[in-house]
Amino acid sequence: MAVGSVEPRLIIRGGRRLSGTIAVSGAKNSALKLMAASLLTSGVGVLHNVPDIQDVRTMQEVLEYLGAAVTFEEGTMQVDTTEVQSHVAPYDLVQRMRASIQIMGPLVARFGRARVAMPGGCNLGPRKIDIHLRGLAEMGGVVRSDHGFVEVTAEKLRATNIFLDYPSVGATENLLMAAVLAEGTTVLENAAREPEIVDLCKFLVSMGADIEGAGSSTLRVNGVEEMRPAEHTVLGDRIEAGTFLIAGAVTGGDVEVIGIGPHVLELFLFKLRSVGVQVQENSRSIRASGDPSSYTAADVATLPYPGFPTDLQAQMMVLLSIAKGVSVVTENVFESRFGFVDELIRLGAEIRVDGNHAVITGDRSLTGAIVRCPDLRAAAALATAGLAAEGCTELREVQHLDRGYERFEEKLQSLGAEVERTGVRPGTCGSL
Ligand code: EPU
Repeated sequence: MAVGSVEPRLIIRGGRRLSGTIAVSGAKNSALKLMAASLLTSGVGVLHNVPDIQDVRTMQEVLEYLGAAVTFEEGTMQVDTTEVQSHVAPYDLVQRMRASIQIMGPLVARFGRARVAMPGGCNLGPRKIDIHLRGLAEMGGVVRSDHGFVEVTAEKLRATNIFLDYPSVGATENLLMAAVLAEGTTVLENAAREPEIVDLCKFLVSMGADIEGAGSSTLRVNGVEEMRPAEHTVLGDRIEAGTFLIAGAVTGGDVEVIGIGPHVLELFLFKLRSVGVQVQENSRSIRASGDPSSYTAADVATLPYPGFPTDLQAQMMVLLSIAKGVSVVTENVFESRFGFVDELIRLGAEIRVDGNHAVITGDRSLTGAIVRCPDLRAAAALATAGLAAEGCTELREVQHLDRGYERFEEKLQSLGAEVERTGVRPGTCGSL
């Protein structure tokens, strides 16, 4: 970033107790796939409760690149796929957002062809797409790669039984979208069970698909001749909800999130309780409060749903840094998702990383400092740590935060946090 340019930063003055209620936005990881699913038919699909975040804007660009006309106002998105002709997702878009590869299944299903730039590495380590491609090949797709692109062609995909090596969220979604128009019944075994996949199944069914087993690890998809445009409301973002609940808990506050049912965060809420956070829940909201001086250590291992979500691992680490005792956090989903640990240590945490384990010695008093955000969830965790820290924290590279959190600082401010966004203004945090 050139000297004098206006890279946005967040300035957080910690130590304020957060309290109040926030409404969660629509789930990023559902909205992106629903947008991709709209490619399965011609016409105008409508999505409500779409979060206005950078990743959604990037997916909008992907759809527009393919020839769709997209309007997006006040959470409602209309996707008109009538003029879609291209089947190519270029490098610049895929590299900006890996979820662009989710157009592959729908494009092969509808047009018999998809050419998508290979995503390459990302801040969470190498993220392969072998399970996506093997599944498409088993359905009769011919997979080729050249010039940094992977291309899948198939005159007509055919149904088959596919056993996923690992319950990959993205592969399950891509294969599900490919299977809805395939001839016969496709069975996906060891499928991912995330709530966002259930949301995708609901949308596909309202578009005319015939799917059984949504939310289980076996999905049966009876192929249909054609799909039609549909209208759907995106489910609430469980990761945003979890992030705000932790922000409340680490500040000794009392935060309620509405627009989300507790069943989608069951293990996460169990872990909050075992640390000593008080959690109250009903079918539409969750409330967390507590006294940080009474929190105690807990071990956490991330796993595919219904296990502990990897997307809340970094935020949980902040809570464990102030809880008494030694906690062990094991990251099982991504190869490198501890990139933020050195930054958290700058704020006063005591953490030792060994492979995919992090050992956290808690009961630390965090103090504000300048930190850089390596990825989206790390950015949310570092902001959370800043809220709990004494003094001022300057968060740099907050563009990562904007990929996935809608009006993040505005929501925090409504809970009483002292947080503002600035350009580069040396000395904003005093003598840091
Ligand atoms: N994997 C393979 N081969 C594949 C596919 C996946 O080896 O063909 C590996 C990946 O390398 C990774 C693991 O399997 O180590 C999990 O990947 P998965 O496919 O399940 O995740 P994803 O679809 O790439 C989505 C979310 C992530 C979330 C994960 C796990 C979207 C756009 N992304 O990624 O969200 O962490 O599922 O729940 O839905 C985030 O929101 O910050 C985020 C990273």
